[in-house]
Amino acid sequence: MTDEPKKEMVVTPWEVSGDIDYDKLIDQFGVQRMTKEIEEKIAKHAGFKHLQLRRGVYLSHRDTDWWIKEYEKGNKVGLYTGRGPSGHVHLGHLLPWFFCKYLQEAFDADLYFQMTDDEKFLQRDDLTLEETIALTYENALDVIACGLDPEKTHIFSDTEHIGHLYKIALNVSKKVTYNTAKAIFGFNDSNNIGIVWYPAMQAMTCFLESEREGKNTPCLIPAAIDQDPYWRMTRDIAEKLGYYKPAQIHAKFLPGLAEGGKMSSSQPDSAIFTTDPPKKAGKKVMKAFTGGRDTVEEQCELGGRPEICNVYAYYYFMFEENDAALVEREMKCKNGEILCGECKKTLAKRVEVFLTDFQKKREEAREVLDQYLLK
Ligand code: TYM
Repeated sequence: MTDEPKKEMVVTPWEVSGDIDYDKLIDQFGVQRMTKEIEEKIAKHAGFKHLQLRRGVYLSHRDTDWWIKEYEKGNKVGLYTGRGPSGHVHLGHLLPWFFCKYLQEAFDADLYFQMTDDEKFLQRDDLTLEETIALTYENALDVIACGLDPEKTHIFSDTEHIGHLYKIALNVSKKVTYNTAKAIFGFNDSNNIGIVWYPAMQAMTCFLESEREGKNTPCLIPAAIDQDPYWRMTRDIAEKLGYYKPAQIHAKFLPGLAEGGKMSSSQPDSAIFTTDPPKKAGKKVMKAFTGGRDTVEEQCELGGRPEICNVYAYYYFMFEENDAALVEREMKCKNGEILCGECKKTLAKRVEVFLTDFQKKREEAREVLDQYLLK
């Protein structure tokens, strides 16, 4: 609830918890705030303004304006994003992937999609390498189900495609001192040396397209802001290796179903997985944290609080395409005209419909997986 003390914010590539203060994060990470100008330019090239842009889901960036200008000059531009295959994919992961599809079409860009089966094996005590590799291919189905272009999407696994990657990663790793890695990622003496090397692998993809094209190709990374430490490190060494600095566009986190924090695979009851049976997902929604009052009388009198409500957040991020309908829902909630049960029921239905359709596409993806793998 709003009057309870705030829980300390932790945002690293491996942990996101507490009450997230995006303004503070922007200052801490030293990134640029998103501007209307950038949003409008993207929309102009796409022919429409994506829901995530209209709703301010992309809060900050680095050099996205430069990346767009390069495209406008007639240069080829590329996209890069990824997934750490530690379990099934949840709705939060899909946000940047849907956005990549939008950008891929708008800028005619190839997308390099990295599956970090090495990272998750090294970082998680409970996962074997065989498990993270198997999850790579499971998660790739979700990526494909987002509707990306098979001709322009190159999905790869760090372990299985290492021959394409290792030389670039070696060059990166030689330029990053242990001191820098420690300062950025907080490594200490008890970390295994694999995870200390790993950032070179995540950085490497920023330059993969340049290597494959045989010329410097501007790279833009759509991802939630938790991945930013990798880009800080990469930008520091890019020019020393003769590449452009990679650009970033940072998303906010889709919250979990429970109060506070982002949607996270480590809290399965508070996450909606793309593999959840739709009815089960609907039931999870019915148990979600809302901004409702303790009693119906209070709710009718004082109204609900969409600003702290996760159910409202799902409409906002994903499940209400129509802006006017979203505003109407917000007003009705605040005026006490609509109660949480009704709002949850409508959302549960929408989530069920979404999952039914997505799971069909996900199954169809098995047939075409090979077309999407890096060659
Ligand atoms: P991973 O698997 O933790 O997350 C995959 C992508 O999902 C984003 N994300 C979210 N976005 C919105 N709401 C949420 N609740 C939420 N949770 C996660 C992440 O920011 C990410 O974009 N190390 C990476 C794998 C990786 C990568 C990359 C990610 C390799 N190269 C380049 C992004 C860009 C990882 O473990 O992501």
